[in-house]
Amino acid sequence: MHSNPQLSKNGELQHLLTIEGLPATLLTQILDTAQSFIGVTEREVKKLPLLRGKAIFNLFFEPSTRTRTTFEIAAKRLSADVINLNISTSSQSKGETLLDTIDNLEAMHADMFIVRHAQSGAAHLIAQHVAPNVHVINAGDGRHEHPTQALLDMFTIRHYKREFANLRVAIVGDILHSRVARSQIHALTTLGVPELRVIAPKTLLPAGVENLGVHVYHDMQRGLKDVDVVMMLRLQSERMQGPLLPSAQEFFKYYGLTAEKLAAARPDAIVMHPGPMNRGVEIDSSVADGPRSVILPQVTFGIAVRMAVMSILAGN
Ligand code: NCD
Repeated sequence: MHSNPQLSKNGELQHLLTIEGLPATLLTQILDTAQSFIGVTEREVKKLPLLRGKAIFNLFFEPSTRTRTTFEIAAKRLSADVINLNISTSSQSKGETLLDTIDNLEAMHADMFIVRHAQSGAAHLIAQHVAPNVHVINAGDGRHEHPTQALLDMFTIRHYKREFANLRVAIVGDILHSRVARSQIHALTTLGVPELRVIAPKTLLPAGVENLGVHVYHDMQRGLKDVDVVMMLRLQSERMQGPLLPSAQEFFKYYGLTAEKLAAARPDAIVMHPGPMNRGVEIDSSVADGPRSVILPQVTFGIAVRMAVMSILAGN
């Protein structure tokens, strides 16, 4: 195995930075551990003592609702102390470097950092800098990866479809700017999904995407034909430099998921979206709120999946 900064010499997970490079056994271990936590999240006393006494810092350099909150809930369910830092309003705006901020938080005896940053590689940089007993989780770095989102997506697919071995899955929309798509592609291929498709206009596909083991489609009717799982992405207008699209309306016309387009998929196909959704841009409300949508269950499963990742890291 190449040197993978997230794995120890004996293959134990030290940090969760990317899905790329993680073996299927480890992904499955995370999903199975998450499954064991589902019961906990449904009982009246929702706490386990696994992270008691640990200090977990939620470092969000970019806005977030779902990811930040579900990490916080997950840490609290494991009895950790959670400290939320909204960095855009703190010392980075006074000129402190990222690693100086980390040094100061480590001086406060941080045990784990959960990091979201606009710069690809930010979580890696922190992981290489911290003491060996401190763990780092990437909660989204630039356009690069968002591993816990992909894991909660895999958990959702396994929940509804039982196994990955016979599935046809389509990822639809703004692949180019999406860290979620990159993590999903690595997770789905590692877990053995035999047919993975991406559906997008040429301007929203990264160069060489076919090398990741996906089939490329530019047409929704063809791309969605007989799929079991439809994974929608948000159109990330804030990351676009210059016009890649004629307009949001035009995008919706060709790539927006409507009931009519969804009819090409299998009758029992599920529809996913990582949120936040742009209704009427990438997805129609009738689909987002319809019987095939598992968008809100994804959010709920995110808690158990993040509990699983944190407890595995803390135990290694
Ligand atoms: C995503 C993100 O921030 O990467 N949202 C999320 O974490 N659930 C996707 C997005 O912003 O479109």
